[in-house]
Amino acid sequence: VILVNGQPGDCVMVTDRGLAYGDGLFETLAVRDGRALHWDRHMTRMAAGCERLGLPMPDPRQWRAEAQSAIGTQDCGALKLMLTRGAGPRGYRPPRGPATTRIVMGLPPVDRPDGLGETGVDVCICRTRLGRNPALAGVKHLNRLEQVMARGEWDDEYHEGIMLDTEDLVIEATMSNLFLIRDDTLCTPVLDQCGVAGITRARVMEAAHALGIPTREGRFRVRDLQEAEGLFLTNTLIDIWPVRRLADRSVPVSPMVGRLREALTRGEDGA
Ligand SMILES: Cc1ncc(COP(=O)(O)O)c(C=O)c1O
Repeated sequence: VILVNGQPGDCVMVTDRGLAYGDGLFETLAVRDGRALHWDRHMTRMAAGCERLGLPMPDPRQWRAEAQSAIGTQDCGALKLMLTRGAGPRGYRPPRGPATTRIVMGLPPVDRPDGLGETGVDVCICRTRLGRNPALAGVKHLNRLEQVMARGEWDDEYHEGIMLDTEDLVIEATMSNLFLIRDDTLCTPVLDQCGVAGITRARVMEAAHALGIPTREGRFRVRDLQEAEGLFLTNTLIDIWPVRRLADRSVPVSPMVGRLREALTRGEDGA
């Protein structure tokens, strides 16, 4: 089921600024047993994105009602919400008081081999770099050309690709955040210049605190990944994927990954 501004349908105007400029935001939520998980966290991130882009945030109760209809009764595995600055006159200048476009899509579960969370995944290092821009860092905005270009670098030989910024710092992967384990500390790149501040990344950091595992946000390079005691990737739909191969090297799987996955599953209260 797809709703555009609350109405069933799958069309937007050709003048929509989301299409023309990527002028908007999106959220992907996991749905289990007809319920969207971590709803409040997604709403909070979208509201923060709205603040950053100067977009009016629709009432979360309206999102909620539409999300519930889009989940419907079918076998829904995910929800995608999109918010754009709406159809506008020509030119970049953002209209005052825009009539935003709100899109809610119920999606089937992703068709992926089972058990990657246990077996681990193979990742490459992408040639495409992430540009550094603190004004957009962390925001889940609709400009995803860097990810599109990066994902075009491989077919099926890898599960994910790690992306560096233009200063050779490791940031994240094309559709997931990255963690490395060093000296029994859970480390993840800071996202003050680029990258998406993942909901799952935040949940993993909280789970680590609850387990008494030391954490550190820092600046890391490829050599740090190669020397790590373990690497893993996170996003809303995969939760945690341990990395078993980084380009042509195998990577140890740290026992910390299993503890964190268990803690995440326990915390899956949908809040
Ligand atoms: C570029 C990028 N980074 C990170 C993430 C992970 O974010 P989350 O944990 O909120 O799904 C995503 C999710 O789609 C993403 O597209």
